[in-house]
Amino acid sequence: MTGGNCAPIGVFDSGYGGLTVLRDIISLMPQYDMVYLGDNARTPYGSRSFDVVCQYTREAVQCLLDMGCPLVILACNTASAKALRDIQQKYLPKNAPDRRVLGVIRPSVEYAAEVTRNGHVGVLATVGTVTSSSYPIELRKWSGGRVLATVQQACPMWVPLVENNEINTSGAAFFVHRDVARLFDKDPDIDTLILGCTHYPLLIDAIRSSIPTPDVRIIEQGKIVAQKLADYLRRHPEIEQKCTKNGKHTYFTTEEPALFRANASLFMGQPVESVTRLLRLP
Ligand code: DGL
Repeated sequence: MTGGNCAPIGVFDSGYGGLTVLRDIISLMPQYDMVYLGDNARTPYGSRSFDVVCQYTREAVQCLLDMGCPLVILACNTASAKALRDIQQKYLPKNAPDRRVLGVIRPSVEYAAEVTRNGHVGVLATVGTVTSSSYPIELRKWSGGRVLATVQQACPMWVPLVENNEINTSGAAFFVHRDVARLFDKDPDIDTLILGCTHYPLLIDAIRSSIPTPDVRIIEQGKIVAQKLADYLRRHPEIEQKCTKNGKHTYFTTEEPALFRANASLFMGQPVESVTRLLRLP
């Protein structure tokens, strides 16, 4: 896979959360080869500083570029919020001008602007994504004036709950209920709720049952990102031609492969076979 012209599409997340995006990409376009990298040894990113998230994300992206990936999706809001701009504007032009790296925030923002009826949007995300203010900024920029109010709530316990497979527990129910209630206290008129962290769809049942008002649209990113990716590949044949298409899916983790295999299979809803440990990122 190293350095060639044609290679799989890379998908990166700090841990298991990006699998919720990968799952939907595979279901929409099963023919594309995909390589997933989870930095499970250093998860969570959400509570880390700007510089550390930038550095870790650059290392992960470089690793996928070294495998030859023509296109890398940052299936992590925290990495998209903190590192995407730097990677797109500085890192790629200098180190890999013919490759592309895309994030998950812009597609979610555009979709929220399309579906909101009253312009009140709520965002649940990690501390890092919330403090970056990426969602309010991007919603202002890309909603064409349709989004009038954005409120955010950081949910620092949610990623550790998912990473430790504590999804269906009373502990998870407690923290999800508490944080959703805090968000709706800030704006009871929210009609569109963005799950601004790729781990959160795994807590969807608890989230849905915690929402205090009816008819709130919950935006999960997987399907939206998959559709935007399909659209991107249609518009960029020069990248699309470099993506190999044998329906092969491989996985890399910075943690124990056996542990990753067991948890990832659970999150993917199907067996995850080919898992390799990366001892360190470049
Ligand atoms: N899946 C990442 C996101 O979308 C989780 C971040 C973390 O590792 O805390 O933000």
